[in-house]
Amino acid sequence: MRPGGATPHEGTPHDATPHDVTSCCRPEALTLVEYVAGMTVEEVQRELGLSDIVKLSSNENPLGPSPRVLEAIAATLPKLATYPEKSFFDLKGALAEANGVAAESVFVGHGTEALIQLIPQLYVSPGDEVVVADVTFGRYEEASKLMGARVVRVPLSDLRHDLEAMAAAVTPRTRVVWLCNPNNPTGTIVRRDEVAAFLAAVPPTVAVVFDQAYFEFADAPEYPDGLEYFKAGHDNVIVLRTFSKAYGLAGLRLGYGIAAPAVRQLLDTIKEPFNLNRLSVAAGPVALADTDWRERCVEENRRGRELLVAELARLGFDPVPSQTNFVFVDVKQNADALFERLLHRGVIVRPASGWGLPTCMRVTVGTPEQNRRFLEALAAETA
Ligand SMILES: Cc1ncc(COP(=O)(O)O)c(C=O)c1O
Repeated sequence: MRPGGATPHEGTPHDATPHDVTSCCRPEALTLVEYVAGMTVEEVQRELGLSDIVKLSSNENPLGPSPRVLEAIAATLPKLATYPEKSFFDLKGALAEANGVAAESVFVGHGTEALIQLIPQLYVSPGDEVVVADVTFGRYEEASKLMGARVVRVPLSDLRHDLEAMAAAVTPRTRVVWLCNPNNPTGTIVRRDEVAAFLAAVPPTVAVVFDQAYFEFADAPEYPDGLEYFKAGHDNVIVLRTFSKAYGLAGLRLGYGIAAPAVRQLLDTIKEPFNLNRLSVAAGPVALADTDWRERCVEENRRGRELLVAELARLGFDPVPSQTNFVFVDVKQNADALFERLLHRGVIVRPASGWGLPTCMRVTVGTPEQNRRFLEALAAETA
């Protein structure tokens, strides 16, 4: 169109026939379930008029980010008018060094969620299969369904991934197996020997994704880091990590993955070009370097986790020993109703009815004061 020229629709009112998106979108989109996030402090303030609220529903880090990271972010603010460097050279280099891998194996994104969304775009065609645990983080299933996958759910055994059954569920149509280790929402892990047997049983054509969002909190000697297998030559292993948990940067949205260079190359090709903002790019290397801060967060979490498990058991509930920054607990009553009562006391937790476990809830490890608030509210509501 020439400058100043008329558009073909100029003067035509927007009175065309209605656009019925459900009849013309990809049918897979209609099978998805929208993500239900934990309630925010602001929501509870608005809905209940409370001011003193403790949020233990989204597995965030109660200590927040390292002060050095906040300085790095502040120093980057004047640069926000320009795009970040697309290669993410320094960040990928820092991630590669911290993990003992080549930079050509590192990919990044707006939180691991974005990477979970990306992986099926690379591997899944309509009618292909993916294998997930039942129950686990729900985004694997939704991201896979969007690409037309048939999702094969394998029940947990004793609240842990049943890797033998998951390997048995693999067929020639399987493209991805999702392993959440430690698992959200149960806080449990699969052991090194189980993973070794699993990888030996699964053909190399299947991508095996280790979502290690809670990796830094896992301290059991038998906990296997997916990177061990990647480094041992399993090119079908993809490891995902995040800065949202141990690094206290959930609000920044910074996640990364490690994969064989050929896999990484394709993931980088299909992703959006500038899939991190400048603030994340600046924060990542500083967060990695501040090991004191991370260790302090992990140590405080370990203490809080032990306290919560012990006190929950003392109150007569069944907490599951956790390798994460949250505790999954069977409260032996309707957890949705208990969640509401705790909410009215200003404590937000996550009931597990959405995972099909109506007597269970998940509570994030908070500061000592937040943990005390939760335990007191729970004791008062269940006495
Ligand atoms: C297992 C698991 N994977 C991924 C994520 C998403 O993390 P991110 O903030 O990196 O997108 C979460 C968030 O709670 C999670 O629990």
